[in-house]
Amino acid sequence: MLPVVEDLYRARLKGRPSSKTAAFLSSLVDDVRIVEEDLDGTEAHDIMLFEQGIISERELASILGALERVRRDCREGRLALDTRFEDIHELIEARVVDEIGIEVGGKLHTGRSRNDQVAVDLRLSLRNEILGLSGKLLDLIAVLVEVSERHSESLMLLYTHTQHAQIGVFAQYLISYVDALVRDFERLSDCFVRANLSPLGASAIGGTSIPIDRERTCELLGFEGLVENSIDAVSSRDFAVETVSHLATLMSHLSRISEDLVLWSTSEFGYVELGDEFSSTSSVMPHKKNPCTVELVRGKTGIVYGALVSLLTMVKGLTTGYNRDLQETKGPLWASFDAAGSSLEVLAGVFRTLEVRVDRMRSAVAESYAPAVDLAEALTQECRLSFREAHRLVGELVHESVQSGTPLSEIQIGDLERICKKVLDRDVKLSPSLLKRAVDPESILDKRRSRGAPNPREVKRMISLRRKSVKALRTRLSERKLKIEKARERLMTEVSEHAKE
Ligand code: ARG
Repeated sequence: MLPVVEDLYRARLKGRPSSKTAAFLSSLVDDVRIVEEDLDGTEAHDIMLFEQGIISERELASILGALERVRRDCREGRLALDTRFEDIHELIEARVVDEIGIEVGGKLHTGRSRNDQVAVDLRLSLRNEILGLSGKLLDLIAVLVEVSERHSESLMLLYTHTQHAQIGVFAQYLISYVDALVRDFERLSDCFVRANLSPLGASAIGGTSIPIDRERTCELLGFEGLVENSIDAVSSRDFAVETVSHLATLMSHLSRISEDLVLWSTSEFGYVELGDEFSSTSSVMPHKKNPCTVELVRGKTGIVYGALVSLLTMVKGLTTGYNRDLQETKGPLWASFDAAGSSLEVLAGVFRTLEVRVDRMRSAVAESYAPAVDLAEALTQECRLSFREAHRLVGELVHESVQSGTPLSEIQIGDLERICKKVLDRDVKLSPSLLKRAVDPESILDKRRSRGAPNPREVKRMISLRRKSVKALRTRLSERKLKIEKARERLMTEVSEHAKE
């Protein structure tokens, strides 16, 4: 029985919503993720109210005591989520009023609105979600760097249009994802800075006549500063939109890497084999080993893209100020973090246990005409042909070889000279070793020394730099986490000191 539930702040209305309508109105299902944040925000606000002389020390003590009992119940799984309450804010306030009476409990919400309250809860939560996800992102990055260290000389084909393009090494492929994921980390890190600001004290939209101290609640909650303008503080959800937008970009990378793994683990490619612990079987085909984990990463990308569109649509047509539509932003936000977080964890495991079939990748290289561009470049450099002439010549050579089924490795220098005469209508003096050198994968990579290319020395240099930047990012992340943990410890000390009275 919850006697105050119906009249905590419904005096204006005489009719009551049916239980269906009440459940429709309620955000409790999504609010389970912000119970602790809501309690922290309210406790910080009420400590400030006491410090400002707005409530007495005894009143604060009994409010904090009741709030801490809610926290305990929640942690022990005993907080009933009754959807007659519109949200966690009403539920907690009703619980406090119910326990300690409306004379004292009724002071808890002085100088505040649910509009700045929910905004502060979301920012507190988002802060932790971003840091948690960034940790998982760094774990995946670290695994990719680790695997790349074993493959700086593992030959592979690089593809454009999913067709053989150039010869490369597996480590450089992995590092390309390290770099993209580090950019994702940096984007989230920027979002963190903008999310880590306090909207508390904006009240409904236009501030309050109660002499509150916004800087103090900001400090108690460990925020770096205020969302100053009270209208902006309650109206804006761009911190959520930009975060999900970056999660969507992150998922686009995870999806692409997953697609590569799906393709490369087919019998036709056989470049990689997923660990059994990250594979599934078939209920009917006994031979199957399906890459379901990475397929699901690809699939979950759709959830995050959908969430981004949902959020953008929700905020688009609103009048300035809080509108109840904003309540619906929580679901897509949580869904995005869940999808991205679990995808990162799964992919880190996939790469940790991935069997890289170096032999298969090497034989694909040996059978390919991918050295054609290197041959054309060698002709340009050693025989003073223009690149266009060399391109035409090698194009003709490949055409003939494909027709006759001759692999690149079996082409003779005489063939090349004959084609020179045919295509360019002149004799070109070719050194006998040119062809051999130009199509040998190791010599090819040795010569490709342009910055960022898959020359093994260049790749090793890139790997060692990436290893250092992972370390620096970890330090930044732990510093941010520590700052928040320290602020929370200080808040909890204040709470237990005041609650004792
Ligand atoms: N449940 C609401 C939400 O999640 C909290 C704010 C409600 N504010 C209001 N004025 N009805 O957004």
